Amino acid sequence: MDKFRFAYRTNWRQETNALNKALEELESRHIPVMDLTASNPTVCGFVFSDEMLSALNVPENLRYQPDACGMRKARQAVADHYARQKVFLSPGDIILTASTSEAYSFLMRLLVNPGEKILIPRPSYPLFQFLLEINDVNFDYYPLHYDGHWRIDYQALERCVDSKTKAIILVNPNNPTGSFVSTSELNALNEICRNHQMAIISDEVFFEYSLSPADAVSCAGNQAVLTFALGGLSKTLALPQMKCAWILASGPQLVLQESLDRLEIISDTYLSINTPVQNALSLWLDHAPEIQEQIIFRVKENWQWLKAHLSEHTELLSLQGGWYVTLRIPAVKSEEEWVLEFLKEDHVLVYPGYFFDFEREAYIVLSLLPPAPIFQEAAGRILSRLARI
Ligand SMILES: Cc1ncc(COP(=O)(O)O)c(C=O)c1O
Repeated sequence: MDKFRFAYRTNWRQETNALNKALEELESRHIPVMDLTASNPTVCGFVFSDEMLSALNVPENLRYQPDACGMRKARQAVADHYARQKVFLSPGDIILTASTSEAYSFLMRLLVNPGEKILIPRPSYPLFQFLLEINDVNFDYYPLHYDGHWRIDYQALERCVDSKTKAIILVNPNNPTGSFVSTSELNALNEICRNHQMAIISDEVFFEYSLSPADAVSCAGNQAVLTFALGGLSKTLALPQMKCAWILASGPQLVLQESLDRLEIISDTYLSINTPVQNALSLWLDHAPEIQEQIIFRVKENWQWLKAHLSEHTELLSLQGGWYVTLRIPAVKSEEEWVLEFLKEDHVLVYPGYFFDFEREAYIVLSLLPPAPIFQEAAGRILSRLARI
């Protein structure tokens, strides 16, 4: 079998990196590691109402009534959830998927032929590269620059656009920079997309975790160009295991309708969204405020603590929302050396900036989800090491 010819798109480098080796070695010595990369909200001590579990125990769950884009009542529940945030959508413009990652795949199948490309932000979420490669989609990065705030570099973005560019991905707010797209940025992007016949895909999974909600601008319902805003339960309710996400489609009527018709066939081919979650969705989304309040409280508590305990050698980059924060640390060592030192000496795991493709060194990214005592102990250890330079 060693001569078996797998598809080129799966020729990933799979060797263990130095960070994983160091983690394995600590584990083999039974040394506990404090995890400041925690991204699984179900193990961070948030409380979920019992009513949410009872919503799964209903007789309707034993009946299968497939609907290509998701059951009507479930799509209505998503529309009602957005209406509470003053974003008005028709259930007919909503497509349910099992995850945001699946939503990306559906959109790649809809929009991009092999050899064509889309633009993705840098720094950003590392899964994009895999998602795009698996779908045979080429990509170019467009940079986000930091000058006290993160901003899109339009000139660089426009230089990446050519006749093969089909869409721009925004992450709003971005992971890990926590930056939202501004109204003027959205206007400029609409202009670029209109001029070059491109769509916008706006990943808004963290949108409800804004530190100042008045400043957050959503692309949901954007009419200027064909737009797909993405959201889902993994962040809205902090329940990634429930496997439910959505595409909110909007734009000029003709192209919007054509997209929905085509997406319906793609969705119908998979029918991947499960019935129990769709039956529970309306009740579950009523619980969104109480879950989001707990998370926003935690994020703010850890962020404030960090601000109050920074040493002169570290800079906390501005944060508008999301679950992560970025620190600029002295580039007297590489990010990899720093992160290995934090792990081996302090037993604290953080993300190196290169994981998110930061253009320069040295940055680290911390999750703000861990309970405050754990966060303070772990972040305290790395801050004291940085203070000793
Ligand atoms: C920006 C962003 N989009 C999407 C996802 C994945 O969402 P889902 O679980 O719905 O695939 C994540 C997960 O962390 C994320 O950070």
